[in-house]
Amino acid sequence: METRRGYSIFQIALHWLIAALVLFQLFFGESMTVVVDAAEDGQPASATDQALGSAHYWVGLPVLALVLVRLVLRLVSGAPAPAGHGSRWMRVAAHVSHGLFYVLLLATPAIGLLAFYLGDPWGDIHSLAKPAFIVLIAVHVVAALYHQFWLRDGTLKRMLSPAG
Ligand code: HEM
Ligand code: HEM
Repeated sequence: METRRGYSIFQIALHWLIAALVLFQLFFGESMTVVVDAAEDGQPASATDQALGSAHYWVGLPVLALVLVRLVLRLVSGAPAPAGHGSRWMRVAAHVSHGLFYVLLLATPAIGLLAFYLGDPWGDIHSLAKPAFIVLIAVHVVAALYHQFWLRDGTLKRMLSPAG
């Protein structure tokens, strides 16, 4: 659905809040692995890993809740049409990569819960989210910068200031 000229203030706030929480998870997620491995070996984990492991749990769950809110908002108020007149393959690439983001944003915390309560193979599957997110975020950031500063079609700007 493409019904708006730009993103609403709520969509923008959710985009950057979720991005910050996901980056936190990617930077500090390994502490959760350390805590899980230490528990399996009957060894104590360091206080830092315990704190970051616990933060991993309590930052991960809001990601799931916020993404659900974001999807409902998107279904209700729609997504804006592309800012510029990119070629067909660029529109398809944007659709596919945004769709993949939503799949990852829902599946990663859900599988994280399974990993936490049931262990492997869910832990191994959950860990695959790290390279998947890194590749997708890298492509996404390069695309956003390319649109804003090379094509100059205002794509990044409209994810920073709401539509009037
Ligand atoms: C978007 C949200 C999340 C992201 C991006 C994320 C990312 C990560 C990353 C990068 C690791 C370390 C993988 C490694 O050591 O290579 C990890 C481990 C782990 N995460 Fe998450 N996580 C998220 C949400 C959650 C949630 C909500 C839970 C549980 C409630 C959870 C439970 C775990 C567990 C149990 C491990 C250890 C897996 C193992 O090695 O067995 N995660 N996560
Ligand atoms: C973990 C990090 C991130 C995630 C998960 C993420 C996810 C997404 C998703 C799912 C959309 C599509 C929104 C929709 O139409 O429903 C989007 C749009 C967008 N993102 Fe991100 N993003 C992240 C980081 C970033 C960063 C760092 C930048 C800036 C360099 C950025 C710039 C943008 C822009 C400009 C759009 C709008 C694209 C358009 O108007 O077609 N994102 N992002």
